[in-house]
Amino acid sequence: MKFSLVLVFASSLFLHGTTGEILCEDLTKNNCSFAISSSGKRCVLENFEDKKGKVEYQCRTSEVVVEILSEYIETDECIRACGVDRNATGISSDTLLDKKSIVTLCSPACYQKCPNIIDLHFNLALGEGVSLPDLCEQQRSDPDCNMIDLLSSSAASGPVGSGTHRLFSAAPAPFSF
Ligand SMILES: *[C@@H]1O[C@H](CO)[C@@H](O)[C@H](O)[C@H]1NC(C)=O
Ligand SMILES: *[C@@H]1O[C@H](CO)[C@@H](O)[C@H](O)[C@H]1NC(C)=O
Repeated sequence: MKFSLVLVFASSLFLHGTTGEILCEDLTKNNCSFAISSSGKRCVLENFEDKKGKVEYQCRTSEVVVEILSEYIETDECIRACGVDRNATGISSDTLLDKKSIVTLCSPACYQKCPNIIDLHFNLALGEGVSLPDLCEQQRSDPDCNMIDLLSSSAASGPVGSGTHRLFSAAPAPFSF
């Protein structure tokens, strides 16, 4: 027991040493969005205007802790399969409001192969009081139903537990939901 714990600890140190640290602040526009830092926090792309009015981008560390992965840059395959945009700034649940985006997110190519993007949207959905698996199920069985319908039905079925607002309570002000 003691031995295996030491082994796990040692091998995680080893992995750490070989892959190189990911600091969100070191990432650029083409690898920031959906990336996870070595400390397990989501990176978030932010934009601002410089003195000449030109839009500049900056990658920052958010307060959102990812439990399933760390030190990860999302692949182009998953960006495409899940229909998300690397240029998107902030962390937003907008994807969940668009029927076509939900279909893409729930497709096997994304849902079964891109755990990072699914984890993010799973938590964003929870923050809205909706379960992503339910949303995908609903979408398959009743393609005309949308997030708004689900939202009102979950609101009608009783108060949402405080535990479901994990992502939102973890995130400080600058995010646009
Ligand atoms: C992110 O992209 C920049 C610019 O393309 C590159 O220099 C950097 O190595 C990339 N970082 C990672 C961790 O892939
Ligand atoms: C993202 O921005 C780059 C320029 O920085 C642009 O070439 C590209 O088309 C944009 N992608 C999307 C999906 O908007």
